Amino acid sequence: MKIWAHRGCSQMYPENTLLAFGKAAGIEGLTGIELDIQLTKDGYLVVFHDERVERTTDGIGELRQYTLAEVKRLHIDAGGGKYEQIPAMEEVLEFLEDKLKEGLKLNIELKNSVFPYEGIEEKIVNLVYRFGLQDRIIYSSFSALSLERIKKLDPKAKIGILDTKVSDCLYKLKGGCGADALHPYWKEMDLPKERLEGYVVRAWLTGHLYPEKSTGNLLNLDMLKQQGITDVFLNEPERYL
Ligand code: G3P
Ligand code: CA
Repeated sequence: MKIWAHRGCSQMYPENTLLAFGKAAGIEGLTGIELDIQLTKDGYLVVFHDERVERTTDGIGELRQYTLAEVKRLHIDAGGGKYEQIPAMEEVLEFLEDKLKEGLKLNIELKNSVFPYEGIEEKIVNLVYRFGLQDRIIYSSFSALSLERIKKLDPKAKIGILDTKVSDCLYKLKGGCGADALHPYWKEMDLPKERLEGYVVRAWLTGHLYPEKSTGNLLNLDMLKQQGITDVFLNEPERYL
């Protein structure tokens, strides 16, 4: 089973921050890091999960109503009187560049199901190429249309199609969005392994995020493997590796 850090090490540290990514990058044997991108009001790529900023920052309202300068003034509480910022995507690539060139992978999820963020595909593909990291990236989205745009911009791009049920992932993949891997919710493996046709299946989990307390239970990864899951996105990868 390949292990990914979901929004970085997001149980012990604030999700989608350089702190959480740095902790993940230090884990021996980790396959990669997953993160979420959106666009600011002035068109910059930033790494952030929710469409609104309240849950994880001291701001109010929709992220897309903030300029990059305004986003940078928001505080993410990291405990002990310390704060993190919402990172620009460019900062994250600078921060992880060496690790990515050494072999770590990065799954960039385009968070564009609620707001389409026109032009987001071109911006992220151009940025990744500027760093020469195109071989290290897997793009994903719940939007098949968005992934189709990525594939047109970069025919060699590796792409995972997101949905809840694995059957919906498979049908979206077969619809021609350019995906070569399935990214379902781990509890929605509604097809037998034989029907997954040997595709890579990277399953995502929900659950506890910093600063919520962990349940303490570890997943049985062998059981997931038997269902055809090849990779998992975990909030606490450090407990499995
Ligand atoms: O990319 C897999 C997973 O991250 C999708 O769900 O809400 O955690 O972005 P979410
Ligand atoms: Ca995600």
